[in-house]
Amino acid sequence: MGKIDNFKVIEKLIKEVLSDEIDYVALKENMEAYEALLINLSGLELEDESNKNNDISFENGTALGTTWAAMCVVDLIRTRQFMRGIWKAVEDLYKKKTKPIRILYAGSGPFATLVLPLMTRYTAKELQIVLLEVNEKTVGYLKRVLKQLNIEDYIAEIVCEDATAYKVATPQHIDILISETMQHALVKEQQVPILLNLIKQLREDVVMIPEKIELKLALMNTNMPLILKCKEVSKYIDIATLLEFDKAYINLYNATQDYAKKKVIELLERMPFRREEVSNFYDRLVVLTLIQVYGREWIREDESGLTIPKILLDLKGIDEHKKEISISYIMKGNPYFEYELS
Ligand SMILES: C[S@@+](CC[C@H](N)C(=O)[O-])C[C@H]1O[C@@H](n2cnc3c(N)ncnc32)[C@H](O)[C@@H]1O
Repeated sequence: MGKIDNFKVIEKLIKEVLSDEIDYVALKENMEAYEALLINLSGLELEDESNKNNDISFENGTALGTTWAAMCVVDLIRTRQFMRGIWKAVEDLYKKKTKPIRILYAGSGPFATLVLPLMTRYTAKELQIVLLEVNEKTVGYLKRVLKQLNIEDYIAEIVCEDATAYKVATPQHIDILISETMQHALVKEQQVPILLNLIKQLREDVVMIPEKIELKLALMNTNMPLILKCKEVSKYIDIATLLEFDKAYINLYNATQDYAKKKVIELLERMPFRREEVSNFYDRLVVLTLIQVYGREWIREDESGLTIPKILLDLKGIDEHKKEISISYIMKGNPYFEYELS
């Protein structure tokens, strides 16, 4: 495929992504064509053990290995929503700001997946991107993709460093910070420490993408298929908000170092599962993840691998006398939620 054809694949994808109506068949076809193009240009062998087994572990989380980072492309709604959010953020800034618009993309993976479509719309004079990626092997593939697409003039810099410790070279220049280094319930990966480190260095008005990650404690109804006909029965019942991870939260954390506060949530008051009729259905305690990518672009429950519920507890057989749950987000090893019933 020639260079023009390569760009046609990306143009076709972004057209589909920007369409407000979701045509799942067309979206899947276009996303798969995009993935195939990127795999082909990079020369990445997904099945190669050295690409699969190169996760990097840090004291506060794991950076996914090359194959797994590449495969994120086909998490359809994730990629669609991030691309739409990023597109709109750049569009909004484009109207307001002198050029170029400068993006810092932390955890770009082997393809810089989420930002390539922008290059079908803007010139390198209008858009400059710093790519930050900790995995050396991944960076090797990334460089090949950029070269093959002949878009190196959009790239201000490629930095192979740990984003949780990286010192931004020209922090006052950055207009948009993008990072998708997360899993459901913010477990395992380093979204939180990456953004804690980068946001404090950047301008106050920097646009952070995703804008907000909401984590909620909820009850899940695992018997849903049996009662699907009953419209008023929902799959989840919210109990409490555990975390709203946005710029305000990060600034507060950086000022007080107090973010890991334990939450104590009354079970008796809040959990209807203690009523017989409910307990038969709502039988799991879960953490739900909702992502506000930018403005009206959200990824909601069960729409993506990033927003499937994280099951904490099977409620069947739980001790009736437990009155409350204390729960906290632990950012050590592979981040997770620690909880205790009392
Ligand atoms: C889940 S993948 C996502 C790839 C791509 N951004 C996308 O959305 O398709 C996350 C990428 O971030 C990188 N990463 C994770 N932690 C990092 C860190 N601390 N510093 C720099 N890169 C990191 C991983 O190596 C991986 O390539």
